[in-house]
Amino acid sequence: MSSNRSGNPQCFRAAVSEFDFIKQLSILRKFATANLPARRRQRWLSADSLDLVNTLHSKIAAGLKRLARRFLSSLGYDTSKRKPSKADPLCEGFDRYLFESTKAGIDVNDWIEEQLGWEPALPTLRKVVFPYIEQTSCVCEIGAGTGRHARHIIPLIGKGKLHLFDHSSWIRSHLKNYFSKVENVYVGECDGASIGLAADSVDLCFSNGAFIEFKLGTILLFAKEFWRILKRNGYVIFDYIDISTEEAWQHLKSQSAVHHRTFTYHCGHTIDKVFASVGFTVLERHQEDKSTYVVFQKI
Ligand SMILES: C[S@@+](CC[C@H](N)C(=O)[O-])C[C@H]1O[C@@H](n2cnc3c(N)ncnc32)[C@H](O)[C@@H]1O
Repeated sequence: MSSNRSGNPQCFRAAVSEFDFIKQLSILRKFATANLPARRRQRWLSADSLDLVNTLHSKIAAGLKRLARRFLSSLGYDTSKRKPSKADPLCEGFDRYLFESTKAGIDVNDWIEEQLGWEPALPTLRKVVFPYIEQTSCVCEIGAGTGRHARHIIPLIGKGKLHLFDHSSWIRSHLKNYFSKVENVYVGECDGASIGLAADSVDLCFSNGAFIEFKLGTILLFAKEFWRILKRNGYVIFDYIDISTEEAWQHLKSQSAVHHRTFTYHCGHTIDKVFASVGFTVLERHQEDKSTYVVFQKI
């Protein structure tokens, strides 16, 4: 073999055949093909040596990956291959929260509450929402984010359904991924103008942290859609920022320098007027920090 052959793949193949690599691999070939049907065995026995090595390499790598995935999933890790879609401008930075939490090895919703200090979902749900949920309830959540509240609602509605809606395609893709193993969770698109559910099919419409951003026009559209999709006696529960409360006033003063485009502030009687105009009756209110949670019923 001349020295100028080195570095050229074709020359390398020739060199391999000069060293009779085929013979070196013959024992391995016979061993590896022992249990194969005759035709496949023949194909493998007569295959080019480098092709054989490449094929064996990729088969072994794929097998190892499968084993690792099975092992991790037996430990409870989500090993599904589906990746969230590209972040869109509507996803409000949740893609970054997922990135940071994954890097830290923490569930994204735990990370949001621990690192960003968002009010913990569970205590509020226990106080405000769970009294209105039954095992068979069909619940619809608007603006579900990364599923911070949905993950606590799911165990309560074993025989019911949870429909999660969001206007961000990144959020919807994340939610499908996050709840991929939960059979009674459905994810849908919605911007407020219409919610893709049948009339009189839902027991509870819930939303957290979305109506605190909505203008009255959007709130009126949602109120109409809630009335259409709710069963008789069904409930609507959401939080808004009631500027007549001291907490909301302090929030306005402290947040406006940075977040003047984010939040909206309304009065209780304005929200009541909008919902009463489509037929709802107000049942109760809870104050949680800046948020006022209101419960309406379709009587
Ligand atoms: C502040 S985040 C709250 C997320 C989640 N509910 C939580 O508390 O962690 C607001 C959510 O509402 C969604 N959203 C905002 N406007 C919307 C609209 N018009 N229709 C549907 N979803 C909307 C956003 O994409 C985002 O997921």
